Amino acid sequence: MNKELNGVGIIGIGSAVPEKILTNADLEKMVDTSDEWITKRTGISERRILDKDTPVYELGVKAAQKAIEDAGITAEDIDLIIAATTSPDYLFPQMACLIQAKIGAKKAAAFDLNAACSGFVYGLTVAQNFLLNGQYKYILVIGCEGLSRMVDWEDRNTCVLFGDAAGAVVLGAVDNKYGILSTHIGADGEMGNVLTMPCCYITEEDIKVREHENKKVMWMDGQEVFKFAVKIMEQASLKVIEGANLSIEDVNYVFPHQANTRIIDGALKRLGMKSDKIHPIIQKYGNISSASIPVALDEAVKEGKIKKGDNLVLVGFGGGLTWGSALIKWAK
Ligand code: UT7
Repeated sequence: MNKELNGVGIIGIGSAVPEKILTNADLEKMVDTSDEWITKRTGISERRILDKDTPVYELGVKAAQKAIEDAGITAEDIDLIIAATTSPDYLFPQMACLIQAKIGAKKAAAFDLNAACSGFVYGLTVAQNFLLNGQYKYILVIGCEGLSRMVDWEDRNTCVLFGDAAGAVVLGAVDNKYGILSTHIGADGEMGNVLTMPCCYITEEDIKVREHENKKVMWMDGQEVFKFAVKIMEQASLKVIEGANLSIEDVNYVFPHQANTRIIDGALKRLGMKSDKIHPIIQKYGNISSASIPVALDEAVKEGKIKKGDNLVLVGFGGGLTWGSALIKWAK
């Protein structure tokens, strides 16, 4: 969707990560890996891991409360909660409903959205349309993940990559010419088998065809995802830059999904952008899926990097395969 879309933007933002840190040195004791391999191939030094007694949605509660406070509203003002997640505690009650109850957003409708690591951008796009058509005034979009609960801790190909975190935004009306100027979402289901997480009710027949699904943990063909990611991040970024009638030179910051430093570098190179357009968090949090864009954005805002009027590209890719991008003129 690339029509004129001024007047809806982020009016509050917050994030939360668990306290427990798992370093590359810790992982060396768990699987056949090394700090050198992980740092060189991914850019990750450590990640945050939820303790086993804390539900994943608690991170979403903390991030949501901070975003609501930052927006200067109360939980009771929220009309809709969208929880973008690929690692919910339950299929139902949905994460969005668990968060709704805990924060006391009594009048809000609530649902989960699963577009894997693209989920936050998908959520922004859905929310923007509810706001533009006048149905709702305030929408909470949360990217909330506990990927440590889903990875195979014996598989070095995946367990070194992921972490737990949540980031949340409140979307509402902003001055004309600010806010979300263009969005783009897409999917290629034919490539879905390169990144999979089977459900508990997968059939025996499916498991015979794809043996790795027997373990009911995350599985990934890293190189296929890598190639796809570099290409799609470039294409999706260009799409929203053009959609907002801007050029690459007008972009102040890019907030990519942070899965691997080499993927980000590759995409930036294709776009002809320098690495100082990024606020890196992957080194300390790993791949936090749908939380990676809002957590990085929140930290960049808190550090004073983002100014009113800055043009930000948010761009994600992930399981499905899916992708999504948004061009936001920062309104706060
Ligand atoms: O959020 C969206 C989902 N995920 C992604 O976007 C991830 C995309 N893919 C990637 O980031 C990279 O493909 C990986 C980081 C997953 C892997 O990096 P790579 O450079 O593509 O490595 P590779 O898969 O080609 O493996 C190279 C070698 C292999 O050994 P051999 O066959 O050359 O002897 C692997 O077995 O590295 C080995 N390897 C490891 N070695 C030490 C794989 N994982 C590890 C490990 N530690 N953790």
